[in-house]
Amino acid sequence: MNMSATTSTLIPLEAVDPAMIEQLLDRAFGPERFGRTAYIVRQGTDGLPGLSFAAMDEEGLLVGTIQVWPVALTDPDGRRHPMLMVGPVAVVPERQGEGFGQALMAAMLDALDDRTPLPQVLIGDAEYYGRFFGFHAEPTGEWTLPGPWERHRLLVRAPNPAILPREGSLGPWRD
Ligand SMILES: CC(C)(COP(=O)(O)OP(=O)(O)OC[C@H]1O[C@@H](n2cnc3c(N)ncnc32)[C@H](O)[C@@H]1OP(=O)(O)O)[C@@H](O)C(=O)NCCC(=O)NCCS
Repeated sequence: MNMSATTSTLIPLEAVDPAMIEQLLDRAFGPERFGRTAYIVRQGTDGLPGLSFAAMDEEGLLVGTIQVWPVALTDPDGRRHPMLMVGPVAVVPERQGEGFGQALMAAMLDALDDRTPLPQVLIGDAEYYGRFFGFHAEPTGEWTLPGPWERHRLLVRAPNPAILPREGSLGPWRD
């Protein structure tokens, strides 16, 4: 891996102009991104500022972001299991492969509270999130989402996977 990211700066996402974040996400995912199932899962919730970061390059330009949202998996008995939904994780196309994605993920994981670690869920490539961060698709095999998804891309990372419900539907966390 090229280590440009080691000389970058990570700052709270809150400190970045929201319009610049939207521009970056359009570039990484395309403007049709709002129809993605991941957006529907967290609809109506506010992102968690303490777990959301931006990466700035050597010149202070925004090159990547990570956001995290409160969601819940509702099991067949109606019990709601709180989880953290990670994403989007995005790096501008011209700076991909330089370690920014991993730096953003590492910052988010470092910011999790070890005493109450909620399972983290995301829709993404297991080749990336499994290889570097230990996310797995196996526990999510019987979970459902409020929109189309590819089963092998629904990934979870949990300190103790045995506590994860086998079945359930994922949606926004609401009181
Ligand atoms: C996926 C993404 C976040 C990765 O961040 P990045 O800064 O480009 O990647 P890093 O520099 O941290 O990691 C590079 C390594 O990961 C691998 N990698 C990058 N993206 C990958 C992917 N989607 N699948 C598998 N491997 C991937 C690279 O091949 C490289 O491997 P190497 O070290 O063996 O050469 C970024 O490429 C991106 O924004 N892509 C477009 C949006 C997207 O698909 N987001 C993920 C869904 S939420």
